[in-house]
Amino acid sequence: MSKYKEDNNTTTHQHDNTTTRNTMKERDYILGTDKAELDRLGLQHRIWRSHVLEGWQKAGITEGSRVLDVGAGPGYATVDLAEIVGAQGSVVAVERSANYLNYLKAQHELRGLKVNAYEVDLMKDDIPEDGFDVAWCRWVSCFVDSPDVLVKKIGDALHENGTVIFHEYSCYKSWRLFPRSQWQESFTDEVMKSWRETGGEPDIALELPDLLAKNGFVVTATRPLVFAIRPTDYMWQWPASFIEINLNRLLELGRVDAEWCDKVRTDLQAADNNPNAMMTTPMVLEIIAQKV
Ligand SMILES: C[S@@+](CC[C@H](N)C(=O)[O-])C[C@H]1O[C@@H](n2cnc3c(N)ncnc32)[C@H](O)[C@@H]1O
Repeated sequence: MSKYKEDNNTTTHQHDNTTTRNTMKERDYILGTDKAELDRLGLQHRIWRSHVLEGWQKAGITEGSRVLDVGAGPGYATVDLAEIVGAQGSVVAVERSANYLNYLKAQHELRGLKVNAYEVDLMKDDIPEDGFDVAWCRWVSCFVDSPDVLVKKIGDALHENGTVIFHEYSCYKSWRLFPRSQWQESFTDEVMKSWRETGGEPDIALELPDLLAKNGFVVTATRPLVFAIRPTDYMWQWPASFIEINLNRLLELGRVDAEWCDKVRTDLQAADNNPNAMMTTPMVLEIIAQKV
């Protein structure tokens, strides 16, 4: 059961077993949900948009589709999905962070798009709607305690022959600078460690095919997404902004000290200013699977 408040175009639902939005403490996670991270997720989505659109087409998302955005964050992908499915389709976003949901709701109101948005902890709460044609899940499985529970919930929310599309890391350590930087590699190690210590698994894509099979799916397509980039490429801003924001976050969490952060920053700036520098990105695996 959920009680909900209906606005012009966006409906925000809140479960009975949570306190009201005003009194509820923001449900944070390892990367944080503050303004800097919210903005970074926007940049990240813009950089990745062309690859995402290709995946969505392969997964069959089209006008009239009913789509679930799992762990939607501030809803950057949700906006694109709502535009694609149009008035004949529908989009539902589920997300744990109240901060992100507020932003998501404002964006959809601004654009006059209809989206149902629910405050849901995917590890505890049910997904409040079902009958979806496609579920989209990006960079969420790597942060949850049980990806098995997540896959099962997605399966339950899809209709009989529904499709799920994941973008998750399969080799986070493919993130390398050339010339090599000891400090960037140490940063990557620290990020992976911090996710694991809070119940996540960076390379979760490696576990998804088994979990999908166990939960009644068959994998229909996969695509590795890894790029060799230069400082002038737009995609360079993705890892660069992640380093900047996450150095502050790791410092705030007391995991590293200011001197360590400066070393990472200095190496990144040197690469930024070196026309011969290159970077390979953390490898994402696109996995498309169908319920059978
Ligand atoms: C890296 S962000 C990705 C957001 C969005 N999928 C995107 O690609 O822009 C990870 C998101 O997962 C959400 N999340 C993590 N654990 C969750 C949980 N147990 N239930 C619901 N959302 C969760 C976080 O709040 C955050 O918005």
